Amino acid sequence: MADEYTPLDYTVSLHYDRRLYREDIAGSQAHARMLARQGIITADEAERMCEGLDAIRAEIEGGSFPWRPELEDLHMNVEARLHELIGETAGKLHTARSRNDQIATDMRLFVRRAASETAEALRGLQRALASVAVEHTHTAMPGYTHLQRAQPVVLAHHLLAYVEMFERDAERFGQAGARANVLPLGSGALAGSPYPLDRESVARELGFDGVTANSMDAVADRDFVLDYLFAAAACMGHLSRMGEEFVLWSSEEFGFLRLADEDTTGSSIMPQKRNPDLAELARGRTGRVYGHLMAALTTVKGLPLTYNRDLQEDKEGLFDTVDTLLPTVAAFTRMVGGASFNRERMAQAAEGGGYSLATDLADYLARKGLPFRQAHGVVAQLTRHAEERGARFDELSLEDYRVFSPLFDEDVLGTTVATALESRNVPGGTAPSQVAAALARVRERLGM
Ligand code: ARG
Repeated sequence: MADEYTPLDYTVSLHYDRRLYREDIAGSQAHARMLARQGIITADEAERMCEGLDAIRAEIEGGSFPWRPELEDLHMNVEARLHELIGETAGKLHTARSRNDQIATDMRLFVRRAASETAEALRGLQRALASVAVEHTHTAMPGYTHLQRAQPVVLAHHLLAYVEMFERDAERFGQAGARANVLPLGSGALAGSPYPLDRESVARELGFDGVTANSMDAVADRDFVLDYLFAAAACMGHLSRMGEEFVLWSSEEFGFLRLADEDTTGSSIMPQKRNPDLAELARGRTGRVYGHLMAALTTVKGLPLTYNRDLQEDKEGLFDTVDTLLPTVAAFTRMVGGASFNRERMAQAAEGGGYSLATDLADYLARKGLPFRQAHGVVAQLTRHAEERGARFDELSLEDYRVFSPLFDEDVLGTTVATALESRNVPGGTAPSQVAAALARVRERLGM
């Protein structure tokens, strides 16, 4: 058993770190040009290196690059190939550089790009939600607590709740990208470099906001990976909650929405079924994103400064997180756009079997001077009485109401879902006018 695996089998990272080829090549080219500017290599040498690296990028993208797993990682593969292409000069590229500051640079470039792509994808999902919300600023539905019908809301309000979550997520990705955007190159293996480097110019060329302040921290730090992973975990949590609601809402029991045919699958034996697989898989894949965050946190804990090979384990979880999150956001963007909502079913449910306005009745009494706690008690009795008689609130007469409190007047009979919605007219509330204003702000923010 033991001799089936060589040490190289265990240490090789090429099969996943080759994904960083663009970042690695861009970093090498910026490094080579800086070495030339500083007189550490000649301009001609730098030019040959950069041309060779351009050729390597083209080979990789064209599928003709001779990958050699026996060289262990991306960096060694590129360097060896550069040597084949331009000869001895290739060996000078690694002057004033170590794989430690090189990989930290590659990873920061990768996280920066992934963070910006993720934030952009979330904007698309927000736009899809806002587009549906526009149609539903007056569509009543039950709002829930404990999955019990609680108070009516409008559908747009519910959808905009997700827009807010994704707004915070996009912000978190923006912050993760910004925090990653500092250049480690020039830190050497850990102590800095004995060459007269111009790190600032490399930072500018690669679009970094500045250079890392401490060479030891720069090669040991993977906080920026954790930042992305946390943002991703929080975001998957939001997607999973939304997925769960789409699963519930598309069930016959709720019947609030119908997913587009392409976004459901049938059953092999039950032809009537429309399974919400996209939403379910998103819910199911949330665990692995949480797992990657936990794994990365565990990888860095207890590592002595500075670089340790453990840090190589930062990649697969990060890549899988990006490859899980981006398609999930895309799937949800489609799913939201293709869903049709059943206004009648939701309106019916908003009536809550006739009792969804209990809070509004209590508020009615409170407005007439009864302390809210007492008002709540009165309406609880009223509700029990109505339920026993099998009558909805709107089937009770004024006399019925007055048995429970003399404060009830004729106008109590005018309490409806519509008046309940309109009454919640505070900023952030579900009154249709407030929701329309909130939606307008969201659409403005999203450039819609
Ligand atoms: N494959 C390594 C990683 O991903 C690259 C850095 C290796 N550095 C070293 N001193 N072995 O972390």
